[in-house]
Amino acid sequence: MKTWKTVTADMAETHALGRNIGEAAAGNTVILLDGDLGAGKTTLTQGIAMGLGVKKNVTSPTFTILKIYHGRLTLNHIDAYRLEGASQDLGFDELLEDDGVTVIEWPDFAGELIPDEYLKISIHLLENDSREFIFEACGKQYEALLEEIA
Ligand SMILES: Nc1ncnc2c1ncn2[C@@H]1O[C@H](COP(=O)(O)OP(=O)(O)OP(=O)(O)O)[C@@H](O)[C@H]1O
Ligand SMILES: [Mg+2]
Repeated sequence: MKTWKTVTADMAETHALGRNIGEAAAGNTVILLDGDLGAGKTTLTQGIAMGLGVKKNVTSPTFTILKIYHGRLTLNHIDAYRLEGASQDLGFDELLEDDGVTVIEWPDFAGELIPDEYLKISIHLLENDSREFIFEACGKQYEALLEEIA
């Protein structure tokens, strides 16, 4: 497992960080976003979408659980907050096997959906508007991705 840490000072910097991730991402990628309410998970996802060439504005999928966007690659944006672990029957596991990039907010509620290999990003609130992003790459594909981002 490889790790990396970075800090952003505001929303624009978080968008730029996400954009780097989106630009570096290949197909069949799973990114887990951990962090409290308002930490910046959806904001980072907006940047990832930009990096994937998605033109539509990414909004919080909380009430729909899943939103799909089309760019250079498909972005599957899942907010597992309301799943409370009940992910088995929704067929989301098939999504994770397609050639897109799947971003999962609240992975602790995603239960069996979480694959063995992934890039996990934990977001912490610092002073003012700063956010700390801790990256953990599990698996060779994700270590290579993190090399490109870091
Ligand atoms: N450095 C920063 N990075 C990201 N967001 C920031 C930053 N500074 C301020 N913000 C603000 O913090 C909020 C983050 O909200 P966001 O919806 O991205 O959080 P979230 O982690 O997805 O929350 P939820 O758990 O409700 O889905 C936004 O209003 C954003 O403008
Ligand atoms: Mg969110």
